[in-house]
Amino acid sequence: MNKLTLTATIAATMALFVGSANAQVSDAMVINGETISTSAPAPDFIDIDEVLSGWLFRTAETRALQLDDFDNPGMIFVDQAIDDWNTVEGSEGKSCASCHTDGPEEFAGLRAELPRWNEAKGSLYNMEDYINEMRVDYMGAEPFKWAKPRMDAMVALISLQSRGMPINVAVDGPVADIWELGREIYYTRVGQLDMACANCHEDNYGVMIRADHLSQGQINGFPAYRLKNAKLNSVQARFSGCMKNIRATPFAVGGEEFRALELYVASRGNGLSAEGPSVRN
Ligand code: HEC
Ligand code: HEC
Repeated sequence: MNKLTLTATIAATMALFVGSANAQVSDAMVINGETISTSAPAPDFIDIDEVLSGWLFRTAETRALQLDDFDNPGMIFVDQAIDDWNTVEGSEGKSCASCHTDGPEEFAGLRAELPRWNEAKGSLYNMEDYINEMRVDYMGAEPFKWAKPRMDAMVALISLQSRGMPINVAVDGPVADIWELGREIYYTRVGQLDMACANCHEDNYGVMIRADHLSQGQINGFPAYRLKNAKLNSVQARFSGCMKNIRATPFAVGGEEFRALELYVASRGNGLSAEGPSVRN
């Protein structure tokens, strides 16, 4: 692509941003009788006043699907994960249920704090890391692949236990450098369209991009069931999709950059409620 065409492409993309910022903010999310907040004062390290759930930016029809667990297609995958939870696998002859006898409810609150530093391992831990540590070290089974159905379903099952709890991800202490890397990635322009996450999700949320209402790109609702591909989507799969849309080469799922970016983006949602599995278009 020569320089002139490239400039025209960027101009065309920017012309897709029309409409006014911040259309609706106060709508209540009530799931099975439980009210879940969809906005919160923004953490002081970002330059916006209020953090908003991606749910607020969806159409009434899409929103409605998330308000009833019988309508939420993401719950089908949660059911699959419950089967997995009870299935004995690996050389130790154990299932998750063999040891976690109180059921996945034991993990209420965990999703809201992830990613977080794992002192024993000396590394940043995602839900995926916990699940694979269990499978490999405790069950003698093969690890799940990240962003694949069995992993995404198990992440959804454990995330669901924290639904309604405020996201509270630590940004300092041992994770400070990783968080800083994530922040840098968030603000760095990449790809043929030369755009950063912030250009869309911080500077332009609330406007229409093609037929899509641009949100803050929060991850409190993940894993997210997307109508577009009719399956659960992990956080990092979503990051990949956005990078491809700006014609950048996505970082590796599970790699250093996306781990840092996930930590940073998670922390931008501090104060929002965990909502996973959410429904998006
Ligand atoms: C052999 C017993 C055993 C099996 C099988 C097992 N776990 Fe665990 N799990 C533990 C123990 C003990 C801990 C706490 C110590 C640790 O984190 O290593 C734990 C910790 C966890 C944690 C972290 C909890 C926290 O708050 O830090 C998660 C999540 C988890 N297990 C999920 C699972 C899942 C999902 C499976 C099945 C894929 C599973 N476990 C299988 C024994 C087991
Ligand atoms: C060209 C604009 C654009 C850029 C740049 C962009 N995205 Fe997105 N992103 C979108 C659109 C459009 C959607 C779908 C509508 C929405 O939820 O905002 C989306 C959705 C998302 C979502 C899902 C939010 C939800 O609630 O379901 C996340 C998370 C996200 N983006 C993260 C990122 C990250 C991280 C980056 C940088 C690597 C990025 N995006 C770059 C346009 C963009």
